[in-house]
Amino acid sequence: MILKVARLGHPAIRTPTQPVAVDQIKTHDFQKLLDDMVETMHEYIGVGLAAPQVHLSIQVAVLEVEHHPRYTDMPSVPLTYLINPIVTVLETEKIDEWEGCLSIPEMRGSVPRFKKVHVKALGRNGEALDFIAEDFHARVIQHETDHLKGEVYLDRMRDMRTLAHLPEWQRYVLPELHRKDEKDEKN
Ligand code: NI
Repeated sequence: MILKVARLGHPAIRTPTQPVAVDQIKTHDFQKLLDDMVETMHEYIGVGLAAPQVHLSIQVAVLEVEHHPRYTDMPSVPLTYLINPIVTVLETEKIDEWEGCLSIPEMRGSVPRFKKVHVKALGRNGEALDFIAEDFHARVIQHETDHLKGEVYLDRMRDMRTLAHLPEWQRYVLPELHRKDEKDEKN
């Protein structure tokens, strides 16, 4: 079932979430919620979705990047369920890249994120997850776990003047990125 996505301004987006009780994870209702979150993420062509974005104040996020139409040159990230995630920074270097958010539709902004993070969480069946994420994968995880704290990418931006509507971003920023990529390939 496709769930309604809360947009910026809805209190759910700004409400810090509560951990999921471990004995809830294997219940039918919770498993159905995970399926619905994935279906909703796919429907709106997102790389991730956090529970507050579907009006739920619990520590759950899903993410997946597979030849994403919006990020065609980005490495893929397998479908991952993060329940009660704890993220620690492994490399304090920050990298600026463009982000969007299903709760802030049709916008893009440049956001600094840590390059490398360590993630501990529970997976879809309550199993312990423990992994290191780098670059774009680390970015998606930081974006989604921010949602669980009631924060959005706008809060992390260094320069609000990079904020753009999507058509204008595609018209004026994207060609610059392509030019830069071509230059990098030649070097
Ligand atoms: Ni988002």
